[in-house]
Amino acid sequence: MTENVRTSTADRVAEIEIHRPDKKNALTGEMYDAMSDAFGRADGDPEVRVIFLHGQPACFTSGNDLADFLAAGEAPGRGVGTPASRFLGVIRTAKKPVVAAVGGVAVGIGTTMLLHCELVYAAPNARFQMPFVPLGLAPEGGSSLLLPMVAGYQRAAEMLLLGRPFGAEKALAAGIVNEVVPEDRLIAHARDAALAVAALAPESVRITKEWLKRPYAGALEERMAEEIRVFGERLSSPEAKAAMAAFFARKKA
Ligand code: COA
Repeated sequence: MTENVRTSTADRVAEIEIHRPDKKNALTGEMYDAMSDAFGRADGDPEVRVIFLHGQPACFTSGNDLADFLAAGEAPGRGVGTPASRFLGVIRTAKKPVVAAVGGVAVGIGTTMLLHCELVYAAPNARFQMPFVPLGLAPEGGSSLLLPMVAGYQRAAEMLLLGRPFGAEKALAAGIVNEVVPEDRLIAHARDAALAVAALAPESVRITKEWLKRPYAGALEERMAEEIRVFGERLSSPEAKAAMAAFFARKKA
């Protein structure tokens, strides 16, 4: 149990809110487990038709807790079987549609998890980033396969190699988000979309999602397994340890 993930269900929509405001919603093992459990419950509950994932309008998530990554780097081989890898497996295989609302930062897995969602809404303040290479790590969340499919090769290469932050309009142009919505209406707008999908015939929705994903499901499973293994290895690389130590040193300076 963690207070940093809040869940509720109403009107056939299971809502999952990431809530760790003092750390920019950085995700810990406990939080991933809570999210995986919530996805599992929603997928298995016949009363639920849609999963709605969000943070606050000012912050989605700053990605994996870097202190956890630093600790994992001391235990080489970690990656496979971690709460993060479990969560990625759960969102990859979710049968019900997933709607996400993104305001503020969406770093690392905060961006890559969106590639698995059906409807993604972003506020103009959204700031996406996949800084795996600058951190001495490797792409995760299926991004090495999904991003070129969604955004095109050059855009994916730029986002994954340089790993710089980019805004909502660029994410929209790259096909990572469906629509840019004013910050004060973000959550309500995305919830309305979730409710609209929840009002549709569930069997039609289910088969449509399955068919959309089926052509690349096998390749994605394989790539994500490789990404997780390599990512786990990279966590103990000198480059990764130095980059993450620099982040925390910056805080103290
Ligand atoms: N892991 C652990 N702590 C994090 C974190 C993360 N991913 N992101 C932010 N925090 C913490 C900060 O250490 C700080 O804690 P403190 O108040 O105890 O010092 C607090 O959250 C606020 O963050 P801060 O950096 O002061 O906010 P900001 O608005 O200046 O910057 C970010 C926000 C997200 C751009 C910046 O925090 C950042 O780059 N975080 C790291 C993101 C990252 O690399 N994620 C992993 C990708 S693989």
